[in-house]
Formats: sequence, structure tokens, C-alpha cells
Amino acid sequence: MSTPEPAGDSPAARPRPLIIDCDPGVDDAIALMVALNSSALDVLGITTVAGNVPLRLTEYNARRLRTLLGRPGVPVYAGCPRPMVQTLVTAEEIHGTTGLDGAELPEPDGEAAPQHAVSFLIEALSAAPEPVTLACTAPLTNLAVALIQRPEIAAGIRAVVIMGGGVNRGNITPVAEFNFYADPHAARVVFESGLPITLVPLDVTHQVLVTEKIIARIRAIGSAVSSAAADLLTYYGSMRHPALAGAPLHDPCVIAWLLRPGLFGGFPAEVRIETESVLTVGQSVVNRRRLPEGRQPVTVLDTVDSVGVFELILAHLAGAGN
Ligand code: RIB
Ligand code: CA
Repeated sequence: MSTPEPAGDSPAARPRPLIIDCDPGVDDAIALMVALNSSALDVLGITTVAGNVPLRLTEYNARRLRTLLGRPGVPVYAGCPRPMVQTLVTAEEIHGTTGLDGAELPEPDGEAAPQHAVSFLIEALSAAPEPVTLACTAPLTNLAVALIQRPEIAAGIRAVVIMGGGVNRGNITPVAEFNFYADPHAARVVFESGLPITLVPLDVTHQVLVTEKIIARIRAIGSAVSSAAADLLTYYGSMRHPALAGAPLHDPCVIAWLLRPGLFGGFPAEVRIETESVLTVGQSVVNRRRLPEGRQPVTVLDTVDSVGVFELILAHLAGAGN
């Protein structure tokens, strides 16, 4: 099943209101570069959470990226500093001790907004003039806590696009993906909420592998943003699992689906998150034979035109995106 073009999302339509919940992190950074360079997206705010690196760094990194992209008006909010139940697990071995190793980035142009990310999510989704899309590229702690505090915010959510999980693979354990492993209880709250979710699992993102050839094309753009992207991806690529032909561009796939859903294919399914087993905690159990009762199925993406995704990323890094 190819994924439907979200209604009214042609470039001629008004920009789509979007909140990005992230843990920058190199692939989050590329996702932010595309999103903040898109005229089709109206980024209302960037909420940050502990994940790839601790919150003090993910929040700081989001502000550095906002500065690099010349978007000082996009507010950055610090969110939850730890998972709902689990002890914090981070991924410096992939993203470096700063979370954005490999590139010289500017110091932030301003402070984070004083409001907690969870409070911002509740306020923004409760008072939205039109339903808001959420792009989630990190452990789901912020969204889960917001839903527990104010379940009625679901009425203000148009769509939730989540990078996480795996149908037939994991990356931090044989069966669990990092975002869901880091906070399995938050993932369970979100997937039991009945929200309109599109899931971008490892089965898709491992088809979008950035290689030295693509990094060279990015670097050839010759801007401060593209040079930073090339430096970040060079480092990120050097840290990848040796079995991979390139570094998987997980989080940019979320933004690519929002901008060009036709580049992806998917199927409806029930998705449940394992929270009890020591062996399989964080696993996303995808059942395409039995759709959830009383709530809409999750759209689980499984195919991608990776060349089309890279061309989209290149166009936006060149500042020509829409
Ligand atoms: O498993 C990949 C995901 O975990 C990506 O979002 C990466 O940035 C990390 O958050
Ligand atoms: Ca991430």
C-alpha cells in the first residue's frame, strides 16, 4: 500500500503546522536541517528529550542547529531528562560525547524557552487553530507524559510520525530499536493512545544508507549548513556497524515522509510494545493480521525510494526545498 499524500500538503497549500520532538543526535540534526529549510512545514517548536545524549546536550544541540540554520524564532523546549521508568541509556558511541561530534557548530543564539516541553506540547495542542503534526525522532517520554497529563490533547493532533521500532530487526538489542528501548513505557503509552500514527521502523531506515559518495554531494553544495551536515555524517558514518554499507539516516525519513509520502509504502497493523521481558524489552510487536479493536491501526512503513529521499535531503540542504 503506498502511503496517501496528506491532504492539502502540496507546496501551494499553507505550511503544515509541525512540532519536532528530538534528541540531537546526528540524524536528528539532518532531519532538523530539512524541516527548517522547508517552506511546506511551519515548525511551531522543537521539543527535546534525553536520548542519544543527556537532555542538557540534546537541548543545547537543538539551539546550536537553530542558530546554524538561521531560525532564531523557532523555540526550543527542554523536556524530560530521563525515561518514565527505565534508567537513562544514551548512545555516545554513535553520536559522540557531544551528540554532534565531527562538526564545528555555532554557539546558540539564545536560550531555551522557559516552559517545559511537556507543558508546551499540552498548550500548543490544546489551543491549536488547526490540528498539529508531531514528528517524533527520539524516546517518546515527552509525548507520553503529555498524554497522561491531558489525554484530551489528542483532539489537537493531526498525525504522529514516529521513527522507532523494527518489524524484523533491532539495533540496540536483536529485537529492540533504541528509541523504544530507551523508554518502552512511553512508547507503550503512545501506541495505546489511539493516535493516528505512522511508524518509520528500522526496516525502512536501513534502506536509506548514507555513503561517502552522497556525503561528497552534500559537501559540494558549499554552504555552512551543508558543510556541517557533511562533517556530521562523516563522523556518524565512521561509527556505523561494519556490516552496514552506509550509515542509516533514521530521523530524516520522518521529515521525508511528511514532505513526499509517495516515496514510501506501508501497511496497516496493530503495534504493541514489550515492557516486561528483560530479554525483549522495547520490542515493537507488529501484527498485520489483527488490526487493533476500537482504535485506528498504525501505518507501518516498509518500502522506500531511498534515491528519492536523498534527492529531497540534498535539495533542502541546498536551500531549495519545499
Ligand atoms: O534507533 C535510531 C534512533 O535512535 C534515531 O532516532 C537516533 O537518533 C536515536 O534517537
Ligand atoms: Ca533521534
